[in-house]
Order: sequence, then structure tokens, then C-alpha cells
Amino acid sequence: MKPINVGLIGTGIVGGGTFTVLTRNQEEITRRAGRPIRIVKLANRNMARAQELIQKSGVGTGLDINKDVTDDAFSIVNDPNIDIVVELIGGCTVAKDLILQAINNGKHVVTANKALLALHGNEIFAAAQKKGVIVAFEAAIAGGIPIVKAVREGLAANRIEWIAGIINGTTNFILSEMREKGLAFADVLGEAQRLGYAEADPTFDVEGIDAAHKLMILAAIGFGIPMQFDKVYIEGISKLASVDIRYAEELGYRVKLLGITKRTEKGVELRVHPTLIPEKRLIANVNGAMNAVLVKGDAVGATLYYGAGAGAEPTGSSVIADLVDVTRMATSDPHQRVPHLAFQPDQLIALPILAITEIHSAYYLRLRALDKPGVLADVTRILGDRSISIDAMMQKEPAENETEADIVILTHITVEHQMDCAIAEIEALPAIAGKVTRIRLEELGK
Ligand code: HSE
Repeated sequence: MKPINVGLIGTGIVGGGTFTVLTRNQEEITRRAGRPIRIVKLANRNMARAQELIQKSGVGTGLDINKDVTDDAFSIVNDPNIDIVVELIGGCTVAKDLILQAINNGKHVVTANKALLALHGNEIFAAAQKKGVIVAFEAAIAGGIPIVKAVREGLAANRIEWIAGIINGTTNFILSEMREKGLAFADVLGEAQRLGYAEADPTFDVEGIDAAHKLMILAAIGFGIPMQFDKVYIEGISKLASVDIRYAEELGYRVKLLGITKRTEKGVELRVHPTLIPEKRLIANVNGAMNAVLVKGDAVGATLYYGAGAGAEPTGSSVIADLVDVTRMATSDPHQRVPHLAFQPDQLIALPILAITEIHSAYYLRLRALDKPGVLADVTRILGDRSISIDAMMQKEPAENETEADIVILTHITVEHQMDCAIAEIEALPAIAGKVTRIRLEELGK
């Protein structure tokens, strides 16, 4: 069978993994795809990186390190010989131009670019729709976990109710280290960077932006909504204190940076923030740089997907799965394909996205209070007046020479704006020192 020709833009970690796995498993992949998938051209600003990749793979690729490597990525998207463009350079500037140009030239696209899809997905998918080409993006979310396939196809019978995921490995690694070693956030960040987990700009990881990009795409394919990245509530882990991780553990919870999206009667919740989860949940025990996504469908119940969320070969595995899909579907009638965002394009509904003040959650509160009669009574009265029910409470002994004690309260579910008001009133009590620490809590049970 005639091979399908692929142009690879970006030969860094993921590009390298894709090239290696595709070369190593060529035979097996061809048996699945029905025809060979051949990388025929590679682009990298630093051509030596791409040449090295070809040289390292030894004989058998048929590639010429002089003729088949370029530093001009546009020569790939404009090459009439290329059927599929794989974009692995990331970012929203050049990558966007390249993808739109590839689409315009009638080429199918495979990308791992979560930021680009979360911010400009509506434009990109509309362009692809018009041209009848596929834009595949399994590698954009949770690395090697086939979560797009699962949500978009495997769960097609279901009304998806909610999705909650550990979709950033860097922050999960940092939180795991903070818990296991009792270290502060800043001490662990450097290690994560050294291990190569963090994005080029660590702010994207630690401030929850990378997770928010992925969550936006998950919500789109889960609920059939267009991308609305500016409406995602984002709170990272950089201000999280290890004392809260410890107290949470004493109460039977783990703290994870979760991306959560829920369909409610009033609209869609779309939020990334540190979250307490009961330690008995499987997802609470996902440690290190691993990812996991819980998806609740009305028919299937809760389903959990676990695996490597980053790395050369795991992410390459997702890129190649897309290449196989595209190869099989390339010549098919575009109307018979799985829609980009799971729902037919004219069936996407712009459900309202709820402001964070409108979401419903349980809460963990930590306050520093003078250890004297009546203080707890004042605090519980404030919560009671706002119909916020207390689930558990713990008071720590003041340290030697200190007059203030840490009080930790877990509440039942309430609407966030009630909690905002209650916290403001608690902070105004003369016996309360400083700010109240608030972390949202999700049972993730039903
Ligand atoms: N920086 C990401 C993470 C990996 O830490 O999960 C790629 O999405």
C-alpha cells in the first residue's frame, strides 16, 4: 500500500519520542493503519537536532539528513507531497500560522498544542471543518492517556456529568514531594525543573494555566461546548502551604491540583485549583508526575484513566494513535468522521460558564485564633447564619510561647459567595489573626 507522508514540525522531546516509536514499531503500526506511516520531512529551528534524531535511529528510515531536514517549517506545510502535518512546537504564534496554513493547503494536522486549542480552537476547528480535514489532538491532554478517545468515542452513550483530573504532572510531582517530605513549595519546584517535568515557563504549570488549557478542551468534548478559555477559574499551587497538606492528611484527605468541570442546572463549572480529596479515592493516590482523569457519565458511572501525562514516548504514543486514526480516515467522507469536539459542529451549545462565586463546593478552612472562650462559638455562628454546615473540626495546640492556635474546619457543600462572605466576617473577628486559608474540597464519589 502507498505510504501516507508525514511532515514533523518540532523534534524536541515529544517529536523525538514520536519519531523513535514510529520507527521502532513501524511494522505493527502499519498492520493497524492499513498502510505505512512515513515521516518524510523534519523541521527544527536547530537543524542539527533533527539530523541527530535521524542518525540515532540508524538505517531504515530512508531519510536523508541533508535533503529531508529543514529549518523552515512552512516548507513542510506547503509541501504538496505531505499528507499530514504534525505540529509539536507549541505556543500560539508560529504554531497557529503553520496549522492554519496546513489546513488551508488541505492537509490533516496532528498536534499536542493544548494552549493553542484552548485559546484558538474555535477558529482552527471551523477552518478544518470548512476544508474537510482532520485536526487530531490526543497528545494535548494528559500525555499518553487516551482520554480524548475515551470521552469522545468510548463514552458517546453518556450524558457526561462531570470530569475531574490531575492533568499537570509537574504540580502533582511537587504536591507529592511536599506531602511525603514535608517540604515547602519553593524547595520542590527546582527539583521538578531539574527532572524536566516543568513547561518552558514554569508559571504555566504551577499557576494552573497548563491544566486550565487541558480542562477547557476536556469540557468542550465532554459537554459539546465551544472553547471559552477566558472563563476558566484558575488558581495554582504556588501559595499552598505544606501545613495545609499535613492537616488535610490528618483529616483523611490529600491535596491535588484538580481541573474540575461540572454540568449543573445553572451552567458549567470550569475551574482549576488545589482540592482536598478523600484519601480512599483511587485518584487521591496518583503520585509523582503521573496524571489521572475521572469522568462521570450518567450511564457508565465514574470511570478513571491513569498514566504518564508527559514524556517523550508516552506523548509520542498519543501522537501516533492520531496518525493511525487520520491514516484510516484520510480519504473518508468528512461527515462520516468523529467530530473534532465529539458533537456535530452545528450542535455545539454555548452553555453559560459559571463565575467562581456561583460554584458549589465543600471547603477546608484554616484560621489562626486566640485560644480563649467564645472564639469558636463566634466562628460557628457566622457559618451557621449563612447556612454553612460543619462536617469536621480540629484544633491544634498553640506552640510553646504562642497564644494563637490553628483551627481547621471542613464544611459541607455551599455556594461559594456565601463562603466568601463568611470568611470576610471571620477575618473581621478581633480574636482571628490574619487571613483564613480556604481550599475547596470534592468528594468525587457520585
Ligand atoms: N508540563 C506538563 C505537565 C506536561 O507537567 O503535565 C505536558 O502537558
